Amino acid sequence: MLRNLTIAAALGGLATAAPRPATDIPAITTLPPTGTEPGAAPTRVSNNPEEPLTGVTSHGPYSGTPTITGGKKAPTTLALSIDTPPPAPTHSYYNPDGELRAPAQLPYTPGGGKGVNDTLPRYMVASDYDFESVNLGLHQEWIELDLFHHGLAKFSEQDFIDAGLTAEDRSFIQFMANQEADHATLLTNMLGEAAPKQCTYNYPFTTVREFIDFNVKLTRWGESGVWGFLSHLDSREVGTMLVQAESVEARQQMAFRQMLGLHPMPFSFVPGVPQSWHWTLLAPYISECPANNTRIGWQNFPALRILNHPNPNRVSPNDTRENELVGQRVADPSNSTLSDSESCVGNTTVGYNCSPGISRNRTEPLTFPGRKVFLEWEDPGMAVGPNNSYITDTSAKDPKFLAWVGQLNLTYTPLEVTGPNQGWSYQPPNEVFHGDPAINGTVFLAITDSDLYLTPFNLSLINPHVRALGIMHAG
Ligand SMILES: *[C@@H]1O[C@H](CO)[C@@H](O)[C@H](O)[C@H]1NC(C)=O
Ligand SMILES: *[C@@H]1O[C@H](CO)[C@@H](O)[C@H](O)[C@H]1NC(C)=O
Ligand SMILES: *[C@@H]1O[C@H](CO)[C@@H](O)[C@H](O)[C@H]1NC(C)=O
Ligand SMILES: *[C@@H]1O[C@H](CO)[C@@H](O)[C@H](O)[C@H]1NC(C)=O
Ligand SMILES: *[C@@H]1O[C@H](CO)[C@@H](O)[C@H](O)[C@H]1NC(C)=O
Ligand SMILES: *[C@@H]1O[C@H](CO)[C@@H](O)[C@H](O)[C@H]1NC(C)=O
Ligand SMILES: *[C@@H]1O[C@H](CO)[C@@H](O)[C@H](O)[C@H]1NC(C)=O
Ligand SMILES: *[C@@H]1O[C@H](CO)[C@@H](O)[C@H](O)[C@H]1NC(C)=O
Ligand SMILES: *[C@@H]1O[C@H](CO)[C@@H](O)[C@H](O)[C@H]1NC(C)=O
Ligand SMILES: *[C@@H]1O[C@H](CO)[C@@H](O)[C@H](O)[C@H]1NC(C)=O
Repeated sequence: MLRNLTIAAALGGLATAAPRPATDIPAITTLPPTGTEPGAAPTRVSNNPEEPLTGVTSHGPYSGTPTITGGKKAPTTLALSIDTPPPAPTHSYYNPDGELRAPAQLPYTPGGGKGVNDTLPRYMVASDYDFESVNLGLHQEWIELDLFHHGLAKFSEQDFIDAGLTAEDRSFIQFMANQEADHATLLTNMLGEAAPKQCTYNYPFTTVREFIDFNVKLTRWGESGVWGFLSHLDSREVGTMLVQAESVEARQQMAFRQMLGLHPMPFSFVPGVPQSWHWTLLAPYISECPANNTRIGWQNFPALRILNHPNPNRVSPNDTRENELVGQRVADPSNSTLSDSESCVGNTTVGYNCSPGISRNRTEPLTFPGRKVFLEWEDPGMAVGPNNSYITDTSAKDPKFLAWVGQLNLTYTPLEVTGPNQGWSYQPPNEVFHGDPAINGTVFLAITDSDLYLTPFNLSLINPHVRALGIMHAG
């Protein structure tokens, strides 16, 4: 009893006190941005002051004529390719006994590290590389903000219930959309006045399941796109902010997998991909951007279509018909309009049930090592992206390999070319570490002209060899 009283006293009578009005709670805040009331949080950026969390009001394809075509050009390009570069200056550091070897910079601050002892943080992009990476990231945040809202607006509560999702799940998706407004604001601030505004979008889905399927793909390239450049940024401060945003996007990815009745994370590592891969996958869904919007400096590769992309709505993914996607764009979702006996939604048998769930087993996996994947790819020169104002491009020679990017691994399989822009390959059996298949979850596929050896930190050197690019739900 005495003990309880002491605690209550130490807490200032908290156990019995009524809640204090928020205005009475002394909060120690950092300096407010100029122009805001002391203590007030900064406002979110928006295209639409009437609906600050949504912005875009129309959707659909672009039908006009672009006023400009092609990506941004640098004043000059220094080299067309690089030979294998020398090792990093720290490459000889090795610590066999774990003892400290260098002088400590400060008490309890071992020697080394970057930005820990000498410079003031500045949360702004610090190079063209940073600018273009965050510019791309902001295009991603803007589409997510619109997409999550749009799915809620397009489909009724009953449509969601029919897909096994409740009104609470809808609120959750709404909450995720609002997170995007915060992310868009953060990235806008780190870019400054040339930050791009929100665009309008053209979505492929016709049902709730297809909306969720598309979200699984879109959040996969959003997340993997950021992991790909994060540690290459000049501004480590920007990198720190981005990881704090992207760790939330990673959770969104997992939540959408759960809504599709898939295993939430059937892998131990998430792959990173080059910016040009991210832009290639994203651009076809942006129909039009405001005049003068900052353009994007990354490449658009030709589209790679997976003709037998496994349908996650099927009881038996093996039965997926050719081209069972709802459209011709690379990341279009699988057709969810199936007969009751074909559909795994509402099948309550463990191993077949793909209704929303925290985790699902699949007796028959979506894909497996040794599965043939049938492919078709476009020639370069197609108009894609905002206002159809970007043109697909490749510098690769004859297609020879299919590159698979999953977990930490880049794996090449030989490509059997069977006709003009057509061929097939086998899903590889390789593992990251023993017992952990490299290809699972939503993975990236590229047709290449070489099997150049690359690892996660130099993967972008693959770009000159990429003939076409795709994405696939491997599990
Ligand atoms: C990529 O990095 C790996 C080291 O992890 C190195 O062995 C390989 O040669 C590099 N590739 C190129 C093209 O520089
Ligand atoms: C900060 O740390 C780096 C890396 O250990 C070191 O080279 C540099 O001299 C340090 N600077 C200061 C001001 O202590
Ligand atoms: C894209 O289309 C919109 C609407 O027609 C127009 O305002 C904008 O200037 C166009 N941008 C480009 C790059 O063509
Ligand atoms: C686009 O930029 C040009 C040049 O900076 C400027 O004159 C024009 O007013 C801008 N247009 C819009 C719609 O912002
Ligand atoms: C799916 O196809 C693979 C390869 O042909 C086969 O091993 C597997 O048994 C099939 N699964 C079912 C349920 O038919
Ligand atoms: C999905 O498949 C059904 C049945 O084959 C078909 O009627 C429908 O047009 C397809 N939907 C789309 C969007 O392609
Ligand atoms: C689920 O699908 C499997 C495979 O077709 C079938 O054996 C099972 O009876 C189905 N379960 C229900 C509850 O429909
Ligand atoms: C789910 O799959 C795992 C491994 O793939 C297996 O060990 C487990 O028994 C399965 N659970 C059920 C309920 O079928
Ligand atoms: C992906 O992971 C799930 C869950 O562990 C497993 O059932 C499935 O077989 C895996 N797929 C592949 C292609 O390895
Ligand atoms: C896959 O990644 C692991 C871990 O980085 C590496 O040890 C292994 O060699 C890679 N395997 C292939 C086939 O690239």
